[in-house]
Amino acid sequence: MGSSRLSARALLNLVGELDPTHAVYEALAERIRLLILDGRIPTGTRLPSERELAMQAGRSRTTIVACYQALRDGGYLVSRQGSGSTAALPGADSIPAGASRTIDFARAVPPPVAGLDDLFASVSFVDALNGPGFDLQGNLALRKALAARYSERGLPTTPDQIMVTMGGQHAIALIAHTLIVRPDIALIEAPTYPHAYDALRRAGARLATTPVTTEGWDLDHLLEVVSTIRPALAYLVPDFHNPTGASMLPEERTLIVEAARASGTTLVIDETTADLDIDRGWDDGPFARHAHRRSPTGSDGVITLGSLSKSIWGGIRLGWIRASTPVIRRLVQARPAGDLGTPQLEQLLAEQIVTSLPQLLSQRRELLREHREALSRLLAVHLPGWTVPRPHGGLSLWTQLDRPASSALTSLCEAHGLALVAGPKFSIDGAFERFLRLPFTSPIADLDEGVRTLANTWTQLSHPAGHAAPQGLEMV
Ligand SMILES: Cc1ncc(COP(=O)(O)O)c(C=O)c1O
Repeated sequence: MGSSRLSARALLNLVGELDPTHAVYEALAERIRLLILDGRIPTGTRLPSERELAMQAGRSRTTIVACYQALRDGGYLVSRQGSGSTAALPGADSIPAGASRTIDFARAVPPPVAGLDDLFASVSFVDALNGPGFDLQGNLALRKALAARYSERGLPTTPDQIMVTMGGQHAIALIAHTLIVRPDIALIEAPTYPHAYDALRRAGARLATTPVTTEGWDLDHLLEVVSTIRPALAYLVPDFHNPTGASMLPEERTLIVEAARASGTTLVIDETTADLDIDRGWDDGPFARHAHRRSPTGSDGVITLGSLSKSIWGGIRLGWIRASTPVIRRLVQARPAGDLGTPQLEQLLAEQIVTSLPQLLSQRRELLREHREALSRLLAVHLPGWTVPRPHGGLSLWTQLDRPASSALTSLCEAHGLALVAGPKFSIDGAFERFLRLPFTSPIADLDEGVRTLANTWTQLSHPAGHAAPQGLEMV
């Protein structure tokens, strides 16, 4: 929750024109109420004093006092002696703090895949004791196993084209810090995986966006942006995109590769979610195949990253990068500024996992199918006004609400013991207030309890308590 202070001038800028058919105090209270509900005034924000607001607005003190009182009566303002008035949501303070556990709909974190415990038991970790126990590029046996999987899936790869990282996020951050030179432009999808745009921005990139929906990419827009602004780098999630669940068609991939090549744009293809297929019915193999076909020998302008976090378990911090040998060399050289290498223990385990992937992935598919069905059913029953997509894979439902109040819902749910991430977090400009990413990775009992909380909170938010108008106050 926020704890910043809003000046009278900033508040009035947000408020804009008042509805002339209502008393000023009422019209002003209504505008402030809506700003709190749609998250533009975050809960916990300290509002200006009544005196300051009255002066700045050129209104009587009585009007502002009545406005704040109306907000207090509705539960949108909490006033305490000495600490002023802060924005709130009705009902949030009726929940006893720490009364119940928190259900996590914020993170799309699946449980360990079935069969992982047996695999743990079968691996001998003693070999890790021979040597330092960590390394910069990754151990050869694991790199061979990862390269073999790419080759089997239609993308010839050698072990020196692979670097092992501590998860997908580590790979994104390392690529960003190594390749971006201020003031490069990086193209990202909107919405997208938020920690990726954070990493790109921190590395100094200026961000440009291209839209994706649950139906897929606006290819004309994407190609146009690549050819006109010629970004240094484009970060894309072509399979079971986070958060929409969309997959890019094979012919779209070819066109993107061609446009990127013409513009000198490096494609950073995040395949962290690529193995989360439930029922897509086709597999186009690694995205970089489309580039390799055109340039089988040289550098193909595509950097791919992958991870075991979603398909197997996030507790094994194990990801990788596939790129041309010179790019891998640059990344290996740059790495020690951030960390000194991936632990051998994880790598020994990962090697076994990669060789057993087909069986493990079919287990993962069953869990995802069951959980997707459960969450879809629950939402249809409890929130019939929402538009719930049916993605063919991935970990979440990019759900459309029947009005733009994702941030307010998220704040209020937090107080009810349900952690969420509001739609705007998936954009760089505060868009997607009408959307909520709902992961289906929690246990089914938690999905059930979480959706009930979601529905009750939505009802509470949609029908807030009214208030009676005091007498004798000025009109707009
Ligand atoms: C698209 C995408 N890339 C990367 C990551 C980070 O993966 P890891 O847990 O392996 O760091 C995530 C995690 O949610 C993700 O959704």
